[in-house]
Amino acid sequence: MIPEFAFVDGEGLDTATAYRLIVGCVVPRPVAWITTLDAAGRVNAAPFSSYNYVATSPPMLAVNIAARAGDGAMKDTARNIREIGEFVVNVATEDTMEAMHLSAQEFPPEVSEAEALGLALLPSRNVRPPRLAASPVQMECRLDQAVVLGRGVNTLYIGEIVAFHLRSDIYDGKRVDSAAMRPIARLGGPFYAGLGEVFERPMLQRPPGSEGWKVG
Ligand SMILES: Cc1cc2nc3c(=O)[nH]c(=O)nc-3n(C[C@H](O)[C@H](O)[C@H](O)COP(=O)(O)O)c2cc1C
Repeated sequence: MIPEFAFVDGEGLDTATAYRLIVGCVVPRPVAWITTLDAAGRVNAAPFSSYNYVATSPPMLAVNIAARAGDGAMKDTARNIREIGEFVVNVATEDTMEAMHLSAQEFPPEVSEAEALGLALLPSRNVRPPRLAASPVQMECRLDQAVVLGRGVNTLYIGEIVAFHLRSDIYDGKRVDSAAMRPIARLGGPFYAGLGEVFERPMLQRPPGSEGWKVG
């Protein structure tokens, strides 16, 4: 028996339908809880799940920030990344889910989410925006490229990770214990998920860095 499939043509799809479909289909998504600084030095914190790592030499990650629904204005995080050129990605976990979720509220630009939500901060080493103390992993990033996508609603911010901070209970000096981090994942709609069961299989390919490639 061939199962039935609904067909939705992607060509010319309106933004609302496209969003609903894509956030339901591309799951689970990790959550980057991003801290930035505005020109006046206020700390902004907001979550972003359209996010992943994109390079290892050097380490880079990318996050897609949409224009604000309604007025189409730039979100505070996007504006701060453009102005300051630096941001910190704090890994969101089960422990930090409530505060992370609340930080997605549309606070006015002059209100610091860090202050409003009482988020403890730690200074960064290589960038100006601070880290969130409650996160077990914080990655200091320098903006590499901002790529405007499609019809202009979304911009992909690609950052080079210039420093990793790894809490001692999840990092043994070589490997990150991802399960011990208890990362939180975003699903479609109002749903989040924990890791669930973890499966182990032997690695069938060499990890990046051991290929012996010569560049240049
Ligand atoms: C779990 C979660 C994930 C989110 N992911 C994104 C995302 O990938 N891109 C985006 O533009 N907004 C995303 N949002 C919405 C922003 O967090 C929200 O617009 C926030 O108000 C932006 O804050 P800012 O103006 O301080 O930057 C997400 C919200 C939540 C709760």
